[in-house]
Amino acid sequence: MEGGFFIGKTTLFMMLLALCIAPTFVRGQGTRVGFYSRSCPRAEAIVRSAVQAHFRFDPTVAPGLLRMHFHDCFVRGCDGSVLLDGPSAEKTSNANRGLRGYEVIDDAKTQLETACPGVVSCTDILALAARDSVALTNGPSWAVPTGRRDGRVSSASDAGNLPSFLDSVDVQKQKFADLGLNTLDLVALVGGHTIGTGACRFFQNRLYNFNTTTSVDPSIDPSFVSQLQSLCPQGGDGARRVALDTGSPNRFDTSFFANLRSGRGLLESDQKLWTDASTRTFVQSFLSSGGPTRLDFGAEFARSMVKMSNIGVKTGTDGEIRKICSAINA
Ligand SMILES: *[C@@H]1O[C@H](CO)[C@@H](O)[C@H](O)[C@H]1NC(C)=O
Repeated sequence: MEGGFFIGKTTLFMMLLALCIAPTFVRGQGTRVGFYSRSCPRAEAIVRSAVQAHFRFDPTVAPGLLRMHFHDCFVRGCDGSVLLDGPSAEKTSNANRGLRGYEVIDDAKTQLETACPGVVSCTDILALAARDSVALTNGPSWAVPTGRRDGRVSSASDAGNLPSFLDSVDVQKQKFADLGLNTLDLVALVGGHTIGTGACRFFQNRLYNFNTTTSVDPSIDPSFVSQLQSLCPQGGDGARRVALDTGSPNRFDTSFFANLRSGRGLLESDQKLWTDASTRTFVQSFLSSGGPTRLDFGAEFARSMVKMSNIGVKTGTDGEIRKICSAINA
């Protein structure tokens, strides 16, 4: 009897233990919120202060880090492959040439290696820095599941599945679907263009040589055409940068979607989110002030970011914790 009681108590204890531990492992794909709470308690604070310090000096690092995290996750999963240096590394591809903010990640990594050597992965630093960047521009904040590990491979030829400003909505949807992201995720994440800029060379064709029928893209609001033409004169500097969200490029808000509604999207791929009925539904939901179809952009963006940041993650003993973010461990 006594033995039976003892076993019963142990079994009960094991069951309770399982109940406490299980949710930690089921969430995400092995990542969990607070992964570093014991091993490096100041990890998230160190990343945040590094991002803040650089942001104060140069606010354009915010959209830069958000975009870099996105480009990391879309190629080989979120594994820091975009951070690696090398003659044919991901960062050398056309799609990644304009990426910025590497110095912020390196700065945070240096501080983390002093505080807790060999513990915090570079890809987690990037995921946290993207969250902090959004918060710094008055956007939402959210709990980032951590525990990703760094990959050891980076190849420019893998960057082909990154979305392009020339993609149709169907192609954009397919590229997202390939990674488990749906149409709502697509619209929410492209909404990240509420901060940041695009170079003239990415939309100049819409102003001067759209197609053989019309030289100007008819989906652009006519008054906006002249505004853009003066910002990007024909034959002018293709590298000149223009706000992706006219009137509010430094603030994370829904005006990017309002601009799409009024034909004031900068990139053709962005404007198509309004032209196409399947994506316009979500743009309208983000702009709606009430009613059953309203969606809160900030909340949906945060949800989609967590989903994206779990794409193809390496956890457990897979991958490594890089000592330097630009190079694999020796
Ligand atoms: C040019 O673009 C317009 C507007 O999108 C479209 O209606 C037209 O069919 C296009 N012409 C060609 C030749 O692709």
